[in-house]
Amino acid sequence: MIVDLLDGKKTDHTPVWFMRQAGRYMAEYRAMKEKYTFIQMCKTPELAARVTLQPVKRFGLDAAILFSDILLPVEAMGLNLNYSPGPVITPRITDKSGVERLRIPAPEEFGYLRKASAGVLEELPEEKDLIGFAGAPLTVTAYILEGGAAAGFSMLQKTAGSEIFFALMDKVTQTVIQYMTAQADAGIRLFQFFDTWAGAIDAGQYSRDVLPYTQKAVDAAKSRGLKVIYFFKGGEGTARAVSALKGVDVFSVDFSHSLAEFDGFTGKRHVLQGNLDPGLLTKDRDSIMKGIDAVFKSAKGLKGHIFNLGHGVLQTTPEANVAFAVDYIKKAGQK
Ligand code: CP3
Repeated sequence: MIVDLLDGKKTDHTPVWFMRQAGRYMAEYRAMKEKYTFIQMCKTPELAARVTLQPVKRFGLDAAILFSDILLPVEAMGLNLNYSPGPVITPRITDKSGVERLRIPAPEEFGYLRKASAGVLEELPEEKDLIGFAGAPLTVTAYILEGGAAAGFSMLQKTAGSEIFFALMDKVTQTVIQYMTAQADAGIRLFQFFDTWAGAIDAGQYSRDVLPYTQKAVDAAKSRGLKVIYFFKGGEGTARAVSALKGVDVFSVDFSHSLAEFDGFTGKRHVLQGNLDPGLLTKDRDSIMKGIDAVFKSAKGLKGHIFNLGHGVLQTTPEANVAFAVDYIKKAGQK
């Protein structure tokens, strides 16, 4: 189990799971999408549990990730959320009164997560982990400011550091903590924060204006006894900035730099997760094997390694390639 590895215990192979391992690249998921919308699937515990387990059963991955979305809490804050298929959030927040109207949901409002988790845990073999997740405060705030699918994050860059930005970050952080709490209450022990847009603002500004909020969310998860994985996308400056987070058990690194480079930037040895380029899973087997070998090579001197992609599985990925990659990773990662 990943939680055992993080407690310093030995595992017989490098654990492997993939971000966005459930979803539209899988025929079973597409068949369900003909009957239900994405939001219906997330909020109906039996459906969410079934989708969560699909890739684990099909590919033998070592962890399940609860089927949900980082933006569902935004709806609970009082905004409208739709997917078409990218997220659309209305109304836009342009002034302080817009922020003041937002509410902070109670963990009980995410009761569907508790039921979905219970359903997954009933079926999941005990050597596999169930991972819960939330968006990091900046990434959720970015989607709210942009009104959804981000086109360049011009609003985020314009607003960052302003009074509205801090007021919004504060409410989003509290909401993210409630969303995390609902999952901790459901028996989740491993929790990932997605900070996909960490690199969208200047690294110095991240350190000064954003890190305190990210830290607050991480601290809340740690105080609930969770093991914390922090995923981010960004360059060297961002890597250095986020590595100052305290209490993070695993940094999940995108594919713009190697795992060894990340440790090089920060001058420390971490447990790292990553970081195969998801685009490689759409290519031929030779390219997939070479990519996987390179990730293992780069992971050699790390404190610990969880195999993953550098970002989510792409929709155009053939399922056979995922099956091939997981088998190859499991063999190559034998200890
Ligand atoms: O990893 C998993 O399998 C668990 C489920 C999961 C989803 N979203 C399901 C989903 C997870 C962990 C996420 C995280 C998420 N959601 C992130 C962070 C990771 C990343 O990709 O950067 C972000 C930024 C979002 C917000 C979001 N949700 C976007 C931008 C989109 C649209 C783009 C897209 O790929 O469709 C979604 C929709 C979404 N979230 C889908 C799924 C399966 C597709 C919905 C559909 O079937 O139409």
